[in-house]
Amino acid sequence: MMFMPKIIGFVCNWSLPVGVDIASSSSIHGYPKIRIVRVMCIGIIDPSIVLETFAKGADGVLVIGCHPPDCHYIEGNLQAERKIKMLKKLISRTGLEPARLRLDWAYASEIERFTKIISDFRNQVTALGQSPLAGERPDTDILMNIKAAKAATEDFRLRLLVGREIELTEKKNMFGEKMSQGEFDKMIDIAIETVYLRNKIYLFVKNGPLSIRELSKRLNLDPRVVLHHMVVMKQEGLVAVSEVKGTTPLYSALGEARC
Ligand code: FES
Repeated sequence: MMFMPKIIGFVCNWSLPVGVDIASSSSIHGYPKIRIVRVMCIGIIDPSIVLETFAKGADGVLVIGCHPPDCHYIEGNLQAERKIKMLKKLISRTGLEPARLRLDWAYASEIERFTKIISDFRNQVTALGQSPLAGERPDTDILMNIKAAKAATEDFRLRLLVGREIELTEKKNMFGEKMSQGEFDKMIDIAIETVYLRNKIYLFVKNGPLSIRELSKRLNLDPRVVLHHMVVMKQEGLVAVSEVKGTTPLYSALGEARC
């Protein structure tokens, strides 16, 4: 049987052509069907919702907003662009293909463009095949990675950085300096990697006490790197030594579930 990808489209109210029937999965005169969620501006889409959509088994997620610089909420579309950029970097670490997520622009009057965006994305997702998180037996490793990525998107430091990209790269600071785009990208890559890894560590030790060596094997990382993260997480009150096996300390998660 032909594979029919499950695609969720988060579409700005001002990009949605008149006549698109959301209630019946948004078919426009026979064009490919996707499930559409209408939002007042794509700037309000929380990155964690996109990851939750993948965790629930969507094969693809499409976000369509107004063409920049037009946006009824000043720069919601540009905020969404920065969030999607961060999401793609996170998704690339999880084992899921970042190409399953796409951002595009359309006005409500551009029916042809709107339907072409959907058709092209649908073809792209069809070529990728079913998501490893769809079906009766989702890939548990990737699912756990997506949970860690979702928790990372809720980290206030990462959110702050994503929200300040324009300010940091386009405006000078009090010393008359500004960051180049390359410097900012490098900084955010490090922040993404750090926050994602710490959430993965947290998820592992939430399932039971583990040593640094066991964690380094599961994460395929140098034990010194894991130890460094563990020290920081311990200082932040997220983990603690819960027992000592022989001379080896085992770590457990503290507090309420984060992920
Ligand atoms: Fe359409 Fe902001 S109002 S993207």
